[in-house]
Amino acid sequence: MSRGAIAEISLSAIAHNFRTVKRIVKDRLVIAVVKADAYGHGAVEVSARLLMEGADYLAVAYLGEAIQLREAGIQAPILLLFDRPHLDEYIHFRLIPIVHSSASAYELSEEAKKKDVLIKIHVKIDTGMGRMGLNSVHAVDDLIAISELPGLQIEALLSHFSEADLADRSFAEEQLERFNAIRQALSEKLKRKVFSHIANSAAVLGFEDAHLDAVRPGIMLYGYSPVMHKISDFQLLPAMTIKTRILSLRNVPAGTPISYGRTFITKRPSRIGVLPLGYADGYSRLFSNNADVLVKGKRAPVAGRVCMDTTMVDLTEIDEADENDEVIMLGGQANERVTADELAQKAGTISYDILTSLGNRSQRIYAENY
Ligand SMILES: Cc1ncc(COP(=O)(O)O)c(C=O)c1O
Repeated sequence: MSRGAIAEISLSAIAHNFRTVKRIVKDRLVIAVVKADAYGHGAVEVSARLLMEGADYLAVAYLGEAIQLREAGIQAPILLLFDRPHLDEYIHFRLIPIVHSSASAYELSEEAKKKDVLIKIHVKIDTGMGRMGLNSVHAVDDLIAISELPGLQIEALLSHFSEADLADRSFAEEQLERFNAIRQALSEKLKRKVFSHIANSAAVLGFEDAHLDAVRPGIMLYGYSPVMHKISDFQLLPAMTIKTRILSLRNVPAGTPISYGRTFITKRPSRIGVLPLGYADGYSRLFSNNADVLVKGKRAPVAGRVCMDTTMVDLTEIDEADENDEVIMLGGQANERVTADELAQKAGTISYDILTSLGNRSQRIYAENY
C-alpha cells in the first residue's frame, strides 16, 4: 500500500466548471487561477485542460509554480500573483509579473533598462484586502509615475475582493468603486483604456458589475462555490474524489477504547476499520470523532482521534464491509456524498483548505467521469 490516499481528479468536471464561467461572463477573458498546484488538483494537467477549453491566462502564486508549467510545455500567458521581481526569469519564461509597490516597479525598471528590454506588468491596487498592492489613496499618482518608467509597460490593473462571498455586498461595492475611480483616472491620464480585472469566483457568481475586462476564478473551477449563504444558480461539479481502502477490520467488544486519548469507547460490540491515511496525508486531526467516510454507499463515522498515518472508522452498521473495500473520504459513492464544504464546516475552515490539504498529499489519477 502506498502512502496516503488516491485523489481522483475529474478533468471533465473542471471543463464543465470552466464552461459555466464562460456562460456567466460571456466575452470577458478568463484568467484561470491554478496556484497551489491547482488547489490540489495538479497544475499541469488542469492547466492543459483549461487552455484546451479556452482559458486566456493562467495565474499562479510564485515563480516555481510558473516554471513547472513552462517546463511541462505550457505556452499560455502566466501571471505571477505574489512573487518578488525576478527579471531574468520573466524574460526567459515569458511571465507577466504583478507589481505591488512603487519600489518594486522602480527596481524592475532599473533592471529592464540595463538589459534594454520592455516588460509588460499588471499593477495591483489594494482597494481593501489589506494584503499587497498600491495604497488606493495615492494609487493614481503612483501609477502615473510607474507608467513613465523606462522598460515597463502597464498592461493591466487588478485588485482583489476581501468579502465578495458575503450576502452583505457593501464592502465589495466600496472596493469596486475605489478601483473604478482609479482605473478611470489612469485611463484619462494615459489616454487609453486600461485593461482591468478584480473578480474572483464569488464575484463571477454574484457580482456582475465587477466582471470588467477579465475575471480570475479559482475555487469554482474545481466545483465549489465560495458563496455559502445562497444556493448557486449554476451547477458546479466537484472535481476531486479522495479514495482509500480498508487496511484492517476488527470485531471488538463493547467498552473498547479506540485511538489516542481514548476519546471513543465502543458502546456495543463493534466493527472498527483502520484506514491507511491520517493527518500527515492532509486528513485533519479536527476530523477526530467528527466526520464521516463512505463505504458501500453508506456513511461510517470516524472513531477516535485521527492519527498521523491511520484513521479508525466505525463500520458496525455496514455488515457487508470488508478489508480492502473502497472508502471515499471526499466525494460521492452510490447516493451519498461527502463534500469539501461539509468537511470544512466540521473542521472550522473553508473548502480551499480541504482541497489543498488532501489533494496535495495524495497520489493523483485523472479521469473523464462526468
Ligand atoms: C489574487 C487572487 N485572485 C483570484 C483568486 C481566486 O479566488 P477564488 O478561488 O475565490 O475564486 C485568488 C485566490 O485566493 C487570489 O489570491
